[in-house]
Amino acid sequence: MNDGIIDIVPMRRRHLGAVVDIAARTHPRPWSRDLFAGELDLVTSRAYVVALDGRRVVGYAGIMLAADEAHVTTVAVDPDAQRRAVGMRLLLALARMALDRDATALTLEVRLSNRAAQELYRRFGFVSVGARTGYYQDNGEDALVMWARGIDEPEYRALLDTYTERYAASTRVELVPVYREAGR
Ligand SMILES: CC(C)(COP(=O)(O)OP(=O)(O)OC[C@H]1O[C@@H](n2cnc3c(N)ncnc32)[C@H](O)[C@@H]1OP(=O)(O)O)[C@@H](O)C(=O)NCCC(=O)NCCS
Repeated sequence: MNDGIIDIVPMRRRHLGAVVDIAARTHPRPWSRDLFAGELDLVTSRAYVVALDGRRVVGYAGIMLAADEAHVTTVAVDPDAQRRAVGMRLLLALARMALDRDATALTLEVRLSNRAAQELYRRFGFVSVGARTGYYQDNGEDALVMWARGIDEPEYRALLDTYTERYAASTRVELVPVYREAGR
């Protein structure tokens, strides 16, 4: 680790080699470089960050905005860097960016068997509201659909403030700026 400091910064094209490498090590059907690059081009509806340990990319995450909902599209941490609160700091960045974009809810799908991710999401107020049967094409596994609603309310902001304070000494954060569509 780099003195324990993790930088959270906007994902850029120069990060994509490392991002794709982590995707391949953490997902049975990993996103391609082109898919990530396409997401980065959609600046008004997407926001992606990476976590850096020094110059090394150790994780990434992103959201897609639709109306006042932010859909968590992907979250992953390099297996060599897991259980060091990198996932916590990535989720915190996603929640902050969702609020910056006036979202009131976060949602995502997660494999039924993925207890680690579900536990991380619960820490951000996500609750399971149902399942999508056979959602994952590689093995036909069901997805849990999870929501965190009311993220703009004081209680949720207080939760985020607690986490921000917890990681303040060990994290530097630069979030993706808000790009609005022309006319909005
Ligand atoms: C899920 C994932 C992103 C978590 O990243 P991480 O940096 O290791 O998570 P953190 O260290 O921030 O952990 C936060 C909390 O989540 C829970 N958690 C994380 N990994 C866990 C595990 N392997 N088993 C049980 N709980 C776990 C714990 O409650 C943990 O808090 P604690 O360490 O104080 O007990 C990581 O395991 C990963 O990349 N997995 C593969 C990809 C994936 O599943 N992505 C999500 C797809 S929906």
